[in-house]
Amino acid sequence: MKEITEQQLNAMLEHCEVLEEDSRGTKVARLKNGDLIKIFRPRRKLWLNRLKPQNQRFAENAKTLERLGVITPKIQELFWTNRKIAECACIYSPIKGQALISTFQKSPDLLKENLIHIATFIASLHNRGIYFRSLHLGNIIQTPKNEYGLIDFLDLKIQKKPLSRYKTQRNLKHFKRHLERAGVEDFPWSFFTQLYAQAVSLSPPSRPPAT
Ligand SMILES: Nc1ncnc2c1ncn2[C@@H]1O[C@H](COP(=O)(O)OP(=O)(O)OP(=O)(O)O)[C@@H](O)[C@H]1O
Ligand SMILES: [Mg+2]
Repeated sequence: MKEITEQQLNAMLEHCEVLEEDSRGTKVARLKNGDLIKIFRPRRKLWLNRLKPQNQRFAENAKTLERLGVITPKIQELFWTNRKIAECACIYSPIKGQALISTFQKSPDLLKENLIHIATFIASLHNRGIYFRSLHLGNIIQTPKNEYGLIDFLDLKIQKKPLSRYKTQRNLKHFKRHLERAGVEDFPWSFFTQLYAQAVSLSPPSRPPAT
């Protein structure tokens, strides 16, 4: 994987719109051509992240999700931004649409109207054996055609069989905890869990059960 210099990275970031940043700098930005750049800065196990960079894990997860029929960003390019500290980046074309958290902030009613589709989407992930640890409203994109896609899937576990009830409940707990942390107070949680329970029992697993 090629490595770019600090100057090249700065030049790339100079005229872009920063979407997310933290104390260590830009995390996600929109480039002039509309593509997004996401920068990965691991904090631990640098030796391991040098062997298996986070952007590669991210790109592999994108491929797996796509194979399972989940809408994901189109990966364009991977490179090191600083190999010594295992810092790397990925350029991808975004999914058209907006994150559900923005829909909720702009129009809670609209989100409530779509709750059945959101619950069905999450149930379909679980039935496809997808355990997405960062499942929350900021990481689900709603497209203009009212379809749903995922972003930010560095941490993903895929199994052949649908997730067990224990795992689905644990995953929903993450989702709930994130709503609390994001200060989303009026999310209709119990209605959502009812819709989810219906959807998870109705939607068939997309893969044949192992014999
Ligand atoms: N593929 C995409 N399609 C549309 N918007 C995107 C896409 N990827 C990122 N975004 C926008 O960029 C923002 C941040 O992206 P992302 O979730 O990958 O980063 P992050 O939440 O800062 O990462 P992390 O959770 O690892 O700290 C999202 O809130 C969303 O608005
Ligand atoms: Mg995110």
